[in-house]
Amino acid sequence: MVLLAGVTVPSATLALKSVTRRFGPVTAVDRIDLAIKQDEFFALLGPSGSGKTTLLRIVAGLERPDEGQVEIAGRDVTDLPPYGRHVGMVFQNFLLFPHKTVAENIVFPLRMQNLPKARRDEQLAWVMGLLRLQGLEARYPNELSGGQQQRVALARGLISRPALLLLDEPLANLDRELRSEMEVEIRRYQKELGIPFIYVTHNQEEALTMSDRIAVMRNGRFEQIGAKTEIYTNPASAFVATFVGHANRLEGRIAEIDGALARMAWNGQPLLVPRPAGAGVGDKVRYFIKHEDLEILPAAVNGVSANDVNEIRGLLRDIIFKGQTANYIVAVPDGGDLVVSDTPRTVGVHPNQPVIVRWPAGAGACFADEAP
Ligand SMILES: Nc1ncnc2c1ncn2[C@@H]1O[C@H](COP(=O)(O)OP(=O)(O)OP(=O)(O)O)[C@@H](O)[C@H]1O
Ligand SMILES: [Mg+2]
Repeated sequence: MVLLAGVTVPSATLALKSVTRRFGPVTAVDRIDLAIKQDEFFALLGPSGSGKTTLLRIVAGLERPDEGQVEIAGRDVTDLPPYGRHVGMVFQNFLLFPHKTVAENIVFPLRMQNLPKARRDEQLAWVMGLLRLQGLEARYPNELSGGQQQRVALARGLISRPALLLLDEPLANLDRELRSEMEVEIRRYQKELGIPFIYVTHNQEEALTMSDRIAVMRNGRFEQIGAKTEIYTNPASAFVATFVGHANRLEGRIAEIDGALARMAWNGQPLLVPRPAGAGVGDKVRYFIKHEDLEILPAAVNGVSANDVNEIRGLLRDIIFKGQTANYIVAVPDGGDLVVSDTPRTVGVHPNQPVIVRWPAGAGACFADEAP
């Protein structure tokens, strides 16, 4: 429980036990186990069709699982209708009623609950204050900015003082700048309220900015679940490595295994990579190395033969200036491009000139090719 502006908001844990939901031949949610702590910001990250919305709808009670159990605050709510679960929801492509005012839009969920008017007004005042919407009560949605509309949708999800809030891609319709502002704001509301938020997105930056913990979803399963730093630095599979973080991909075969490292033959050149689980000498592997782990050097410097770095020579094709950093696009001998995110250089590194791309041996992640 937290006390906010004189109002007590209950918070609750959530537990899913082997929850499954099928639609005909499609298993949208496949034996999901999950325990959400009382005060955590949890992101569900995954591509389109991976089952994110279906999983949220099961938690909200809008969808019944074919198998498994949903527990909120230690109580089995699997057979309970949405009302009575104390769960708030902000929907994918949230829609405000265009002919209702801000106040009418926000109070709408309470209409279903037959609350006395005094209670409704009190909760409205609380949520308008929390989301800094005071003064906008009588406006219509088309008289609001995108960010204000978003806050109204959020207020509608919070007005019944849920113990748990579910958000389904609530920022998808906003432009980039507003989106990053709202990311910070939503995280702040979650921390202030102290209730768990489950936030669905297919945008990795959003998940990384906002959440404490992330589950990466694929075909109804959690491919990986963990602290966001863990997901970012230690992806458990090629799928996660592709989906989270900006990484280059290099393909080759294992030439030698030595302790925790492996020598991968890439385009006739050896690279020292982390030893991939389940792959032996001769096996095909995919190696991922993040843009920011690479360093760019003028080709004039002497190549090193030390064992603790990898080096690839290439031709610098373009420099994309980003402010604190720049992205260097380097054409490399296998015919692909590497992206290097490094500090902007003023000397020795020019487009159409040869360059060296260097990084520490063993950095990045390497996986055996998945069986088709
Ligand atoms: N009511 C339904 N009837 C039939 N199939 C459905 C239904 N709802 C979802 N599905 C299927 O279940 C799978 C998961 O859908 P879901 O909406 O949960 O995905 P999602 O991860 O939210 O995707 P998106 O990022 O596009 O919103 C998809 O294959 C979808 O076509
Ligand atoms: Mg969805």
